[in-house]
Amino acid sequence: MAKLIDGKKISQQIKDELKEKAAALNAQGRTGALAVIQVGADPASSVYVRNKKNACAYIGIESLAYELPEETTEEELLKLIAELNEKTEVKGILVQLPLPAHICEDKVIQAISPSKDVDGFHPQSVGAMTIGEPGFLSCTPAGIIQLLKRSGVEIAGKHCVIIGRSNIVGKPMALLMLRENATVTVTHSKTRNLPEICRQADILIVAMGKPRFIGAEYIKEGAVVVDVGIHRDENNKLCGDVKFEEAEPAASAITPVPGGVGPMTIAMLMSNCVQSIEEG
Ligand code: GUN
Repeated sequence: MAKLIDGKKISQQIKDELKEKAAALNAQGRTGALAVIQVGADPASSVYVRNKKNACAYIGIESLAYELPEETTEEELLKLIAELNEKTEVKGILVQLPLPAHICEDKVIQAISPSKDVDGFHPQSVGAMTIGEPGFLSCTPAGIIQLLKRSGVEIAGKHCVIIGRSNIVGKPMALLMLRENATVTVTHSKTRNLPEICRQADILIVAMGKPRFIGAEYIKEGAVVVDVGIHRDENNKLCGDVKFEEAEPAASAITPVPGGVGPMTIAMLMSNCVQSIEEG
């Protein structure tokens, strides 16, 4: 029986710590707002944006919502970001992804001042993370590190296999695990012998974006399994990239979906916002 890694509980602990920290900063007159920008009305994005605003309210950080129509031009969005970059009370700027196809995401990410890049997506933030300099860490990978540490999972010296190489999860995850002294293998859609490589993992992090893909043949006895996927199955139930009921008997610890990695992303976003207020 695997230990269940409870992301709901751990994210709550982190949010409560941040709430105290934000109150102490507030008492010194150090406040700040998070600007949350959504372009269009993608239903999944609307849920994420609402959760982010609710988390701000819980921690005691002001949030400024910019809900822009689907037809917003790239130029208009870049102009708004430039204005927010100049506003001293705005300490964080978040543009919810994905953006409509007519807007270049890279251009938008690069327009955000690195000092307000609480998503940790700006090339300067990514570069700083790569060489271990201070800066904002990408929220989902940073949340996974916290999940592991706060669940008592030892990382140093372990073989960590990551499935997926996205800029948001796979790549920054590899760098953060390396920083924690894991031995890291990054796999992707062109990897050969994926089950064989995954069976060498002490810690398997799955961010491939395929519902219920990873079964028992990918899991070494005693491995720690982290499932980053979130999908709706044919019965409209939430599920991850991992076949939980197959992986759980072999694993020593596993994250559920929902209630595993998901809540950690927002907790780490809040952590970056508090860090930004602290840094003034
Ligand atoms: N879309 C999916 N995940 C994220 C995230 O972490 N940040 C932003 N801004 N958009 C996303």
